[in-house]
Amino acid sequence: EKGGFASFMDKEIHDQPHAVADTLLGRTDVRGQLVLDEVRIDESVLRAVDKIVVIACGTAAYAGHVAKYAIEHWCRIPVEVELAHEFRYRDPVVDEQTLVVAISQSGETMDTLMAVRHAREQGAKVLAIVNTHGSTIPRESDAVLYTHAGPEIAVASTKAFLAQITATYLLGLYLAQLRGNKFPDEVAAVLAELRAMPDKIQQVIDRSGRVREIARWMADTQSVLFLGRHVGFPVAMEGALKLKELAYIHAEGFAAGELKHGPIALIEPGQPVFVVVPSPRGRDSLHSKVVSNIQEIRARGARTLVIAEDGDEAVRPFADEVFYVPQAPTLLAPLLAVVPLQVFACELATAKGLDVDQPRNLAKSVTVE
Ligand code: F6R
Repeated sequence: EKGGFASFMDKEIHDQPHAVADTLLGRTDVRGQLVLDEVRIDESVLRAVDKIVVIACGTAAYAGHVAKYAIEHWCRIPVEVELAHEFRYRDPVVDEQTLVVAISQSGETMDTLMAVRHAREQGAKVLAIVNTHGSTIPRESDAVLYTHAGPEIAVASTKAFLAQITATYLLGLYLAQLRGNKFPDEVAAVLAELRAMPDKIQQVIDRSGRVREIARWMADTQSVLFLGRHVGFPVAMEGALKLKELAYIHAEGFAAGELKHGPIALIEPGQPVFVVVPSPRGRDSLHSKVVSNIQEIRARGARTLVIAEDGDEAVRPFADEVFYVPQAPTLLAPLLAVVPLQVFACELATAKGLDVDQPRNLAKSVTVE
């Protein structure tokens, strides 16, 4: 069943090109326009949406954080991302013009389900992005956009995460198309970039030998930090979560810009730090800001493990290791950058002799609040 892999998780990491490709499949018409006719929310309602609130837990919430950057950029609609259990127990400002997007692999997470009910009681429309057909959250939502990752067996989410991010891109592009924020050819151009992602994810997997080697050497590590900016920030958070849950190693993800506001005090000689570097071809000074963050921590003795885009030579002088990933538009890059971090956590936990598919204290779907 594991198809020759040491664990379901390792197999599911390898399934990721398919998970993304299958989630994209069949969602455009012959003219290349997005058709999400499964989204049974009236077009007039979607045109009038003035706020999007993403509710989810854990890894699914990090997919929501990536979605925020993409949807705000493409649609100019404000997007909030909130942990479902926090949303549920405050008095959230949502109304008929709010689109609530509930993201869940299992479709059974009780915290997310309760938040869905709460949102609908306030009059919001709820769109579920879910992987498991016939589960509860889609049944209780106004509409569902399924991710097609296939069954995810390992407790730690990998391919469902990539499929969730992909589905939110589709949603964002669909809203942009519907509301006229983007011209059809612009939407088509992003879609073409998106369709190129499965091959690029495959390349990252094919190149993962070095990250596996490093992970095995680091089996005794006590703490690992993860830094990223912009869409690299949720990638850093996800990298830290994977390491905590699989390898029981203390790990934290930070926004790289926060370093000087506190976390840099944690840096001491030998501290391993993963840094997710944005494309040097991207907008603004994002890339150079992250490169100077690497310099700052390196100067304090950090062991820098850098994830950068092919051709980015600027990071080399300050990196103990560089894991290169193929070039991609900044907003789509999380689909690549997170893969070495998944592999790292999986391999390190395996090297420690742990059960990566069934980490202690965790269940695949959390059906209690
Ligand atoms: C982490 C992980 C969890 C889930 C979270 C939500 O690897 O698997 O953080 O992402 O419990 O679960 P779903 O997506 O089923 O609602």
